[in-house]
Amino acid sequence: MRRILRDDGTDLAPNSSLLIKPAGLTRSSWERLAHAFEGEVCDIVAADCRQVIGGAIKGLRRDFSQATLLDLGCGIGTFIRTHGCRFRSVYGSDFSLNMLRYAKRRCQDVPNVRWMQADLSQIDHATMPTGDVTVCLNVVTSPSKRIRSKMLRSLWKLTNAGGTTLLVVPSLESTLFVHRTIKRDQLTGASKRKLLSQGILMCDGVVQKYFSKQEALDSMRKAGFRKCTARRVWIPWSEEGLEDDHPRLNGKALPWDWLVLGHK
Ligand SMILES: C[S@@+](CC[C@H](N)C(=O)[O-])C[C@H]1O[C@@H](n2cnc3c(N)ncnc32)[C@H](O)[C@@H]1O
Repeated sequence: MRRILRDDGTDLAPNSSLLIKPAGLTRSSWERLAHAFEGEVCDIVAADCRQVIGGAIKGLRRDFSQATLLDLGCGIGTFIRTHGCRFRSVYGSDFSLNMLRYAKRRCQDVPNVRWMQADLSQIDHATMPTGDVTVCLNVVTSPSKRIRSKMLRSLWKLTNAGGTTLLVVPSLESTLFVHRTIKRDQLTGASKRKLLSQGILMCDGVVQKYFSKQEALDSMRKAGFRKCTARRVWIPWSEEGLEDDHPRLNGKALPWDWLVLGHK
């Protein structure tokens, strides 16, 4: 998976390729990854070197002191640790219990947080709270379109009327740019091109979905969100396994994820 497993060689470079039959990360894989999250997984709030996510929250120009925040797929809780204090109540949910354990420990200073184990693709909407602001950062990455659609539809249902969601997804355009920049030549061949056109990439047996800007916007609109806008969340080259002063990067822009804001 992109930018997840760097030191053991399972990042996109240099051994990335494309699969014929993609399979995504399972819950048990995430349980194992929780122990190595800080070193190995791209934590987008921490990696957001130009503070685009924080800027988007400020740009909502809302007083959140009476609002509820819901972080779906919260990982080790960096969004909640960074922004949770502004909200009256906060829910962090993830399907990995290990992630929730780490998140709880890291967010001890944030008042009024509750942690819930839930699978976003199979939410029991009768028992799950809803949020005025919902965030879902690099969670909707399953290679299965059906699962991604379910997750986005749940995100919509879990957002209160008048509320806003912040969705971050891996960028297909950025990935192609990274490949071009560091001259990886794996993205060739007819079947590979077909998967690439669907935004499905594999790294050492782990596949995930990469979104073009248009697809990210269309997916959010299809889920029910309105006034959707997308912007780039810039991330350092080190997240792609390259030093920022690498000669090939001379003058190059940074890689990015897509942040999509949607309203309900
Ligand atoms: C790449 S991490 C991102 C974590 C966090 N949102 C962040 O930006 O740092 C993906 C997280 O989504 C969780 N996740 C993946 N699929 C999920 C699902 N179907 N339901 C709930 N959580 C899920 C994983 O356990 C993991 O914590």
